[in-house]
Amino acid sequence: MPASGSFSRLPGFRDVPPEEMALRRRIFAAWREAAGRYGFREYDGPPLEPLGLYVEKSGPEIVEQLYEFEDKGGRRVALRPEMTPTLARILAERSRSLPKPIRWFSIPQLFRYERRQRGRLREHFQLNADIVGEPGPAADAEVLAVAIDAVRGLGLTERDFEARVNDRRLVDAVLDALGAPRDARSGVLAAVDKAERAGQDATRKRLEGLELERGTVAGVLDVVADGSWDGLRRRFAGDSAVLQAMSPLEEHRSILSAMGLGDYVRFDFAVVRGLAYYTGIVFELFDRAGEFRAICGGGRYDRLLELVGGEPLPAVGFGMGDAVLGEILRERNLLPDAQPSCDYYVAWVGDEQRTLALDAARRLRQAGCSVLYSLRSQAMGKQLKAAGRAGAARAVIVGPDEAATGSATVRDMTTGRQKTRPLSALAVGSGPSGDDEAI
Ligand code: HAM
Repeated sequence: MPASGSFSRLPGFRDVPPEEMALRRRIFAAWREAAGRYGFREYDGPPLEPLGLYVEKSGPEIVEQLYEFEDKGGRRVALRPEMTPTLARILAERSRSLPKPIRWFSIPQLFRYERRQRGRLREHFQLNADIVGEPGPAADAEVLAVAIDAVRGLGLTERDFEARVNDRRLVDAVLDALGAPRDARSGVLAAVDKAERAGQDATRKRLEGLELERGTVAGVLDVVADGSWDGLRRRFAGDSAVLQAMSPLEEHRSILSAMGLGDYVRFDFAVVRGLAYYTGIVFELFDRAGEFRAICGGGRYDRLLELVGGEPLPAVGFGMGDAVLGEILRERNLLPDAQPSCDYYVAWVGDEQRTLALDAARRLRQAGCSVLYSLRSQAMGKQLKAAGRAGAARAVIVGPDEAATGSATVRDMTTGRQKTRPLSALAVGSGPSGDDEAI
């Protein structure tokens, strides 16, 4: 037998004991609730996909992080590192028969062989919400509103987080104006994407490595450092292509303001998104203190469906991870109550009352209550202690006196008050939320 150490958890993966599961369930519930309020329907797909789906569509950064292998049938496959290519593949087959716009959401588990750092794991869950079939900024605003509400549903407010938005078309117009050649674009975007974390010197070196002209490097660094909407407008006042590329974001902003979400949104030229398929407005959600990595990232990808063989359909959506959100909730003391709890703990004095007690437990469970009892004979004191540890709201006690009259003593575990109730009436009017009348 190998020593137990050789079975330790793989780095970047999580064990999820019930206390942690409470947080995951809380996050998923808030995500489902927000997506539901905006009329999104839940879908899922396979966790394993053909490798080519990502190699061609996601871009080099994710491809380097793939868990890929050859299956027993000789196919090159990869664990999904993101959901968007799967969504595009599914819709490439089905979108023709679906009314547009399509609003779909999913909560997949994703796998990326990342360098280990805070908030970055090798598996995580992501809320994905996408609108397919609608090209205008109202769809971009709608998905961003879902993202904001999904975070607000967890108790965070505009004081805690913000959405930083940009537009890939605007980035292209600005880079054209600054003289960055088109064939160096992906390198420039990667440098801009990393600029905030890397700092100015490292970003300059990176841009210089792309053999850009000195004026272009300085221009890109300036725009990233200033990053403001007014600054951009002043700087490119004479450039009609840049000014024109600013208008979708203006409409986007006015829609979000009309939705009451204006305070959550800020323009930031440094948000360009690492993935290859984005074509329009892009955004990321960050904690305002800037302590954590992005909570969420998304944007418009109008060509992806066509690229995977579907009809050409515009699309926009986002992915929101559970890891960073969990850390922020922990830090803000917004973790859900993870204590065990149940509605009833059934206890009996002697073995002669066991059958009656088990029957009471069955009735309560049938009524939808969560019920525990000791799986072995135990003294009443021990049973009541166990009821306390289990977080029972009430104890149901069956002793010889109760058995003789076909009743049980129901004790409120918080107040200690108790009342005798006929066993046959125990489950009547009882529900998981409790029934004060019972006591
Ligand atoms: P992404 O920016 O790669 O976008 O990931 C979105 C979010 O997932 C991140 O902001 C982060 O919260 C979380 N995340 C990503 N990687 C990790 C990791 N290794 N560990 C923990 N959390 C992580 C996408 O995946 C796009 N497919 C989103 C999208 C959907 N765009 C359009 N529709």
